[in-house]
Amino acid sequence: MRLEGKVAIITGAASGIGEAAARLFVENGARVVIADIQDELGIQVATSIGLEQCSYKHCDVRDENQIRETVRFALEKYGKVDVMFSNAGVLGHQTSILDMDAKEFDETLSINLRGMTLAVKHAACAMVEKGTCGSIICTASVSACIGGVAAHSYTISKHAVVGLVRSASSDLGRHGIRVNCISPYGMATPSVCKAYNSTPDEIEADCNYRSTLKGVTLKPKQIAEAALFLASDESSFVSGHNLVVDGGFTVVDHSAPSNK
Ligand SMILES: NC(=O)c1ccc[n+]([C@@H]2O[C@H](COP(=O)([O-])OP(=O)(O)OC[C@H]3O[C@@H](n4cnc5c(N)ncnc54)[C@H](O)[C@@H]3O)[C@@H](O)[C@H]2O)c1
Repeated sequence: MRLEGKVAIITGAASGIGEAAARLFVENGARVVIADIQDELGIQVATSIGLEQCSYKHCDVRDENQIRETVRFALEKYGKVDVMFSNAGVLGHQTSILDMDAKEFDETLSINLRGMTLAVKHAACAMVEKGTCGSIICTASVSACIGGVAAHSYTISKHAVVGLVRSASSDLGRHGIRVNCISPYGMATPSVCKAYNSTPDEIEADCNYRSTLKGVTLKPKQIAEAALFLASDESSFVSGHNLVVDGGFTVVDHSAPSNK
């Protein structure tokens, strides 16, 4: 019960990492608002977790008003916001930068960066209003640390998430609010399977083949566990940090013969 009595909002929680975090946070005593654009799925997830501890709110993070309303919803329903897990994100289209489409670039950044930033803003406003020493967590990626493993728009947006976390933590520390991010290695979530037109088994086999750490297949639950640590009081002096959960992938030279 590491989140006993806490209230959390998780964006992009109708599936993948966000869903796993919603389940784990509730198991640890939190009440959770699932914020997503997949209404049917989000309601299904909230119902399966239990409507006593969990609710669904439609929230497109591209729209600041919807984020504001989601935070208001949590305040009205549960009285406060202790944790914002700003997690919703999209992969973007993989092309050469020579062929980059400006509209597609704007669309990716409107979710992965602008939406993520506005979720930080409105959660922080609620925390300051209520005097809550809260924890804000963003989902970055191994693409926040290195280039060349995902679409340009995605890599650029995820590098910027680390900047967001550093900048916001410098500002919000005076209110006792911590801001951190998690950078996961690849895993078989629905958006990844769809983007690569592959089954979860195929994605996992490919991720395992490229992985530095052998014998472990990364699943959304492992990222939810990192989020649980950052959400809980166990990380009470951790702020401005990028918690990389990649089995060492981003710190190893993959071209060295000994690592092939
Ligand atoms: N799966 C991976 O390999 C991986 C690796 C590193 C980082 N990430 C990051 O993890 C986060 C979660 O992704 P996931 O892999 O669990 O994918 P997912 O597709 O399972 O979940 C993403 C959720 O975000 C929601 N979403 C998309 N656009 C939205 C919007 N405009 N407003 C609100 N919700 C929206 C989707 O409906 C979906 O439920 C993303 O930020 C992603 O970039 C994923």
